[in-house]
Amino acid sequence: MKKTLAYLLVTMFLLMMLPLNLLAVTAPEENETYANLYASVQGETNASAAYKAFAEKAYDEGYPVIARLFMATSDAEAKHADDEWEILQGMGATVRPVAETPVVGTTAENLEAAFDGETYEYEEMYPDFLATAIEEGMTDAARIFNFAMKAEEVHAINYADVLDNLSDTAYINSKYGVVYRCPTCGEVVTERPSRCPICGVIGSMFVTYNQTYFNLYDSVQGETSASAAYKAFAEVARSEGYATIARLFMATSDAEAKHADDEWEILSSMGATVRPVAETPVVGTTAENLEAAFDGETYEYEEMYPDFLATAIEEGMTDAARIFNFAMKAEEVHAINYADVLENLSDMAYVSSKYAVVYRCPVCGEVVTELPGRCPICGTRGSEYIPYPTPVKTVVINSPSLTSMVRGGTLKISASIEPYDEEAITAVKWESSNEKVVKIDQTGLMTAVAVGNAVITLTVETLHGNFSKVIMVRVS
Ligand SMILES: [Fe+2]
Ligand SMILES: [Fe+2]
Ligand SMILES: [Fe+2]
Ligand SMILES: [Fe+2]
Repeated sequence: MKKTLAYLLVTMFLLMMLPLNLLAVTAPEENETYANLYASVQGETNASAAYKAFAEKAYDEGYPVIARLFMATSDAEAKHADDEWEILQGMGATVRPVAETPVVGTTAENLEAAFDGETYEYEEMYPDFLATAIEEGMTDAARIFNFAMKAEEVHAINYADVLDNLSDTAYINSKYGVVYRCPTCGEVVTERPSRCPICGVIGSMFVTYNQTYFNLYDSVQGETSASAAYKAFAEVARSEGYATIARLFMATSDAEAKHADDEWEILSSMGATVRPVAETPVVGTTAENLEAAFDGETYEYEEMYPDFLATAIEEGMTDAARIFNFAMKAEEVHAINYADVLENLSDMAYVSSKYAVVYRCPVCGEVVTELPGRCPICGTRGSEYIPYPTPVKTVVINSPSLTSMVRGGTLKISASIEPYDEEAITAVKWESSNEKVVKIDQTGLMTAVAVGNAVITLTVETLHGNFSKVIMVRVS
């Protein structure tokens, strides 16, 4: 009996473990492609990281065009790694290989190393992995290995060509000035095909790598970080008692977020998929934050955007040129605002009255203290500008227009103010037309003093104008 029970328990335990075992063990032990996929994910991940590092080095050495070729190829290898990892996961793998630290030399050395790596992959590694995958009936893996093998050959040819012509900058710049990456197989070419000769994807889906592509990346990064920094600066300003300055930071933060959105839209239409996230802002006192903000805006409107704009025009990137031009001009207005507030930080009467309400152009991000008829930068109507704080639209007393009370009684009435933005409201006042009949305090608490009628008036004073509401109170 005891023996039977123990046997039963062991059997139950084994049955419980069975599905786990199947997932974790069957595939790797029985299938060589599993190990090959692991090796290829590792290799592709390393290659992608190395090419990113090589791109940086190429930039530093004054080869921006070669940097772009490395970046495009890096993205291709990342896609290979993703595709291979997806198959591995389907086979039960859970621990994805991470990139090894790349060995970075001069650009000439890096091109040579890249060429060697690609050549090994397309001549030895992938043909071998592909044959095994076919033998093992691993159709999905075979398909990916085949695409990667052919793409690596194209990568190798590019690298060899650039390496051979490293001293001929004119050739490199004209041939590789713009490169295109197939989003499916990772082929990197200098002319957009109608269809990818390797995998058949339509040419319009290819990702474009010109200088504007990278400039858009930089600007999305900068705008996103600026937006986050200004939000943090607004909090500091509020805590230091500068509500007005906090609003200016918030309005400008929203302007930068809009710049980032517009730039990202263009970038994603060019095939970008990984949107930069905000860097952690360095926050100081409000005076320090205003100075940092002024410096950032000045750099953007004096150096960064003029440069990006000129390149976008050169490259025929009309949409990007339009956004860069708007942003450039808006940043100048931001810089002027920040400088003005910083210079007058000790004169809060001036700052509070001048910046009591600010308006943001919803298109170009200009932030102004007076509504224009049309935005001088982008032509948007002033009526479409977004005010900070949010103006009050409706004020309602939450009691019937004729309210009854009994002598000696009390009644608290309230008001609805919408939209409610505390910073828009400068005063809320309750008044009774006849204090001998109904008294009211500033919380809306009424006391019926004597029989008769009184008119209760609520006045809400806001930065955008005042509102009044009345009700009649009858005491019996
Ligand atoms: Fe690859
Ligand atoms: Fe490659
Ligand atoms: Fe901006
Ligand atoms: Fe700005």
